[in-house]
Amino acid sequence: MKVNGIPYRSIWLGSDGRTVQIIDQTRLPHAFPVVDLTTMEQAAVAIRDMWVRGAPLIGATAAYGLALQMGVDPSDAALHHARDVLHATRPTAINLRWALDDMVALLGPLAPDDRRDAAYARAAAICDEDVEINRRIGEHGLALIEAIAAKKSGPVNILTHCNAGWLATVDWGTATSPIYRAVETGIDVHVWVDETRPRNQGAHLTAWEMASHGIPHHLIVDNAGGHLMQHGQVDLCITGTDRTTANGDVCNKIGTYLKALAAHDNGVPFYVALPSPTIDWRLRDGISEIPIEDRSGEEVTKLWGRDAAGQVRQVQISPDVTPGANPAFDVTPARLVTRLITERGIAPASAAGLAAMFPEHAATAAQ
Ligand code: MRU
Repeated sequence: MKVNGIPYRSIWLGSDGRTVQIIDQTRLPHAFPVVDLTTMEQAAVAIRDMWVRGAPLIGATAAYGLALQMGVDPSDAALHHARDVLHATRPTAINLRWALDDMVALLGPLAPDDRRDAAYARAAAICDEDVEINRRIGEHGLALIEAIAAKKSGPVNILTHCNAGWLATVDWGTATSPIYRAVETGIDVHVWVDETRPRNQGAHLTAWEMASHGIPHHLIVDNAGGHLMQHGQVDLCITGTDRTTANGDVCNKIGTYLKALAAHDNGVPFYVALPSPTIDWRLRDGISEIPIEDRSGEEVTKLWGRDAAGQVRQVQISPDVTPGANPAFDVTPARLVTRLITERGIAPASAAGLAAMFPEHAATAAQ
C-alpha cells in the first residue's frame, strides 16, 4: 500500500539484503517510524511488544527472525534456541508457529553453511505468499460486496474490528483486501471502524489505513456496532482471525464475539477473512483449545493519544487502586460465522466446509 505516494509492505529487507525493516506500529497514527531489526532478539521484542502485530505479519517477522539468527550462528543449537525464543513471544496467532515450523523443517536438514541464504529466501517467499493469499481473499470478498451493492442504493456499510489491514499482514490485509478491491471497482463503500480497546488497533491503525487510502469511514466505540446493526446501518461485518480451528471456530481480537452475536441477532452477515496459514488443523473446539493471550492490565487502565499541543502522551483513566484485566482475544463459535473468505474461495464455517476447500489437510483435521 502507498504511504504518501510511496509503496510499502509492512516488512522488507534493507539495501544490505540482510537487515529487516519494519514500521513501529505502536507509534501510528502520529508518526511513521521505520525500524531496523538486525538480531533475532530484536525481532522477538518487535513481536512481543507489538511493534509488529497481526497474525500474518507476526509469522513473517518470526521467519525473518530465524534468518537473522542463521546469519550469526547457523548451528542446530542456535536454530532451535531461536525457534523457542520467537515462539514464546505471543501465544494466540497460529501463524507464528506455522512459520517457525515451516522454517525449521526446511533448515534443519541443511548443512549449517547453507542455512542463512535458505532462511532469507524462505522468509521472503512466506512474505510473497502472504501477499498473494490476501490478494485472492480480496477477489473472493469483492463478489460479496458487489452482490450487496447491486441490491441497494447508497454506500455498502462494512463494519470491521481490530486491524486486519495491510499493517497486520505483509500487504493488502485480509478483512480490508475486499474493501480495497471494491473501492478500485468503483463501489461506494463506507467502513465502520471499531476502536478496539484496549490497544485501539482500529483507531490507531485501521482508521489510518482507511484515511491514507481515501476510503470513507467513521471511527466508532466498540459498543456502537449492535446499535448500528439494529438500525440497518451495517450491511456486513468482515473481521480477521488469529487462529481458526478445523471446525470453523474463529479466534480474533477481544470483542469480535460480541459483534458476531449482534450480527446474528440482527441478520447481518458476519464474514471472516481467513488465510489458510491461520487454520489450526489440529484443533476442533476453539473455546477450550485455543490459548488466549493475557496481556498487562495497564493496557486497560491507561491510554495513549496526542494532546492539543501535539505531544503523544499516556494517560490513566481509572483509579490508582483499580487493576485492569486484559484477555486479548476471544472465540466466535462457527455457528455465528456466515462464511469464511479464504484464498481459494468462500467456505462454510464448518469442518466439512474447510475440509472441502483444503482437502490436503482433511486427514489431519479428522484425527
Ligand atoms: O493483538 P493484535 O493486534 O496482533 O491482534 C490482531 C488481530 O486480532 C487481527 O484481527 C488478526 O491478527 C487478523 S490480521 C489479518
